[in-house]
Amino acid sequence: MRKQEDNNHWYDGKLYNYLIDPYTESTRKIISGLIEENSKVIDIGCGTGSLVFYLSNKCRYILGIELSEKMVDYANSLKEKNNIFNVEFIHGDANKIYNLTEEKFDYAIFSLSLHEMDSNSRSKSLQEVKKVTDKIVAYDYIVQKKTLIKGLMNSIIEFIAGKDHYLNYKSFIDEKGIFGLLEKNGFKIEKFIIDKKVYAAVKAKVK
Ligand SMILES: C[S@@+](CC[C@H](N)C(=O)[O-])C[C@H]1O[C@@H](n2cnc3c(N)ncnc32)[C@H](O)[C@@H]1O
Repeated sequence: MRKQEDNNHWYDGKLYNYLIDPYTESTRKIISGLIEENSKVIDIGCGTGSLVFYLSNKCRYILGIELSEKMVDYANSLKEKNNIFNVEFIHGDANKIYNLTEEKFDYAIFSLSLHEMDSNSRSKSLQEVKKVTDKIVAYDYIVQKKTLIKGLMNSIIEFIAGKDHYLNYKSFIDEKGIFGLLEKNGFKIEKFIIDKKVYAAVKAKVK
């Protein structure tokens, strides 16, 4: 098993930006629609920074936190290339958010990052995030019937991403997906939008 501090994948950075980011355009639109203008936001597991950059036109400041150094380097190169000044990226673990920043935020976002963590990290991150905000928007898998073609397709995609990745995805589904996880960790669901029949963007508040 890879150590948490070394979470680079073979597809991180440029390849992820070319192959995966175009597929998640609707994700960014939906999440952005759930967040008020001028908000101060922390994006946890921000990947290449695609959502951070998308929100930079609308929000006053966005901090991206990411465990893969390759992703952070790539996001920083895009920030520099495009002269975007109201965003920052930090390499670090969502389990230790408070060691990375003591600032307070209007929202924390988890976009497709919770299913990638193991069960323990997921719960730890959702407890840790309460130190910096009381509102979150989480976009991730809902529980689907296994017979659905889309459900099968997602299992295949997660399998291709690697063994640990697949096991974490499986345990995420066993924990009843994004709704089950947020309920279990003391969040009150205020609003949700189902996307592509397999994901939900959920706006929630600390109970
Ligand atoms: C599927 S990608 C999603 C990236 C981006 N949020 C998006 O919506 O395109 C999940 C990201 O979460 C990051 N991640 C996983 N566990 C993490 C942790 N414990 N702390 C910080 N980032 C983490 C991974 O490195 C990966 O870049």
